[in-house]
Amino acid sequence: MINEFHNEIEKIKGVFLEELKKIQSQESLKTLKDKYVSRKKGILTDLLKRLKDVPREEKPAAGKTVNKLKVLIESSITNKLEEIGSGEKLTRDYSLPGFDYPQGHPHLLSLIRSQIEDILLTMGYDIAYGPEIEQDYYNFTALNFQKDHPARDEQDTFFIDGLPETLLRTHTSPVQIRYMKDHKPPIKIISPGKVFRKDEPDATHTPVFHQVEGLLIDKGITFSHLRGTLELFIHSFFGDNVNLRFRPSYFPFTEPSAEVDISCFLCFGKDPNCRICKGGGWLEILGSGMVHPQVLKNCGIDPDVYSGFAFGMGIERIAMLKHEVRDLRMFYDNDLRFVTQFG
Ligand code: PHE
Repeated sequence: MINEFHNEIEKIKGVFLEELKKIQSQESLKTLKDKYVSRKKGILTDLLKRLKDVPREEKPAAGKTVNKLKVLIESSITNKLEEIGSGEKLTRDYSLPGFDYPQGHPHLLSLIRSQIEDILLTMGYDIAYGPEIEQDYYNFTALNFQKDHPARDEQDTFFIDGLPETLLRTHTSPVQIRYMKDHKPPIKIISPGKVFRKDEPDATHTPVFHQVEGLLIDKGITFSHLRGTLELFIHSFFGDNVNLRFRPSYFPFTEPSAEVDISCFLCFGKDPNCRICKGGGWLEILGSGMVHPQVLKNCGIDPDVYSGFAFGMGIERIAMLKHEVRDLRMFYDNDLRFVTQFG
């Protein structure tokens, strides 16, 4: 008797597992559940009822076997329901890729700044820093700006209320003055950092932006050294096939001065509808020149013995050109859709 009962249970178990395998929907799972565990006519309920006919001494073993089957059927149905019902089981599938935890990265302006720095560091330049709150003397006077130069106007420069002759530096050139006063030539530095100008924010102006300036002072330095240096720098940054053009310009602290353009790195001047150079073929990239003898004198360097060159560029401008950013303000909006494109 007991063997027959056990055999029957094994058979029911086998059939149940086969049927369960084929189940795809919640409805058919419900039907299967009814078939086995329904109170009225479920196969399991029937088995439990029949336990009472089992001889007394065999009852415990038989009851245990039926109970085991009951646990198996109920837990199998619950698992299956999770699998097809809520999809919850899928999140426990360890073969799926893990969660993507967001990871930060430097801002595009920091990346461009380190690219510029890296090139100039390999060319032997040191990095020099100076204060962002500066004295008029270092920002203007020592750089040969006349008393009535328009840059000194309240309209153009942030002066600090209540402190005489104190302002937010308008360029990083004052770092060069400080450095020349503290060091004897040969001098070979770059000064990267924040600068401030009283501009209304628009697509090409913000009151705060970033510059990198370079300064080299030694015996026998000529304009050719400046040209060679900038060519090497521009080729390293934009590529070897980019050309340079020097246009005469004016800065109070350099003489002669030149604005440097590069040939358009997208169309090389060949596309009249180019989206970068608009067909002009040239892009203005930096200011440069030979350090004015008066500036050298102001810093205690004898212009009859030493000469040198300086150059300065805006990091935002270079980033905008290289990555076709159309509005300068996007750098500061902190919109992740923009920022995360440059990791
Ligand atoms: N200081 C200049 C500016 O901010 C840039 C510059 C630096 C020009 C060095 C020439 C030489 O506009």
